[in-house]
Amino acid sequence: MAIWAIIPAAGRGQRLGALRPKQYLAVAGRALILHVLDCFLTEPRISGIAIALAPGDREWPEVAPVEPRKPVLIVPGGRDRSDSVLSALNALTGKLEKDDWVIVHDAARPCLRPEDLGHLIDMVSNDSVGGVLAVPVVDTLKRADSGGHITATVPRKELWRALTPQMFRYGLLQAALLESRSAGSLVTDEAMAVERVGYVPRLVEGSADNIKVTHAQDLVLAEAILLHRHGSSAKQ
Ligand code: CTP
Ligand code: MG
Repeated sequence: MAIWAIIPAAGRGQRLGALRPKQYLAVAGRALILHVLDCFLTEPRISGIAIALAPGDREWPEVAPVEPRKPVLIVPGGRDRSDSVLSALNALTGKLEKDDWVIVHDAARPCLRPEDLGHLIDMVSNDSVGGVLAVPVVDTLKRADSGGHITATVPRKELWRALTPQMFRYGLLQAALLESRSAGSLVTDEAMAVERVGYVPRLVEGSADNIKVTHAQDLVLAEAILLHRHGSSAKQ
């Protein structure tokens, strides 16, 4: 079964508020998106990578690898993240059969561990639907009213935080995202689109340090995680 990676990278990073979209900011010496790209270029079971970029993006050519060791396809991103993913899925027509796999991973998650990507592929390859990396919730969760007061404590025993990468059958994910779009329903991850059409994705435990860089303070965290990791692998 072929596997392609899809990297939605067409966001503007408004919450971070930097001068350029966050995927092009440097962490641990390289643009965020290059840490992501490296992980997918290195995993041997992945045949190619589709990257969705914002229309008018002029930063990608500045950082793009000159001779990547597998195909890297650039596709136009859309208004929302799910539009960018759907655009990449549509661009893969002819490259994948409907039961082949796609693995979607945010450009904004530079700390994905290669072994977690490998573990996801191991755990999901025999599933009929697909699955996502996730971590169990560790904090105590509160429900709030509009005035900022606690109305309930939500038991966390069965709660997980969904991360990316998320791995799904190509045809199923495309149909599910098309369905969400025509229903006008905003889906914030691939699993949500697949759940909406009645399927049950698998949860695969990942690492809590696979953070999404969202606010400025996350850059500091991402830098510390990557420097620590590369420092300790350099010592081995
Ligand atoms: N993304 C995308 N297309 C969009 C919006 C987002 O490909 N129309 C991508 C982002 O580039 C990012 C990932 O989806 O890699 C997760 O989105 P998010 O963290 O929300 O990034 P931004 O949309 O860039 O940030 P913000 O919401 O703060 O503007
Ligand atoms: Mg966004």
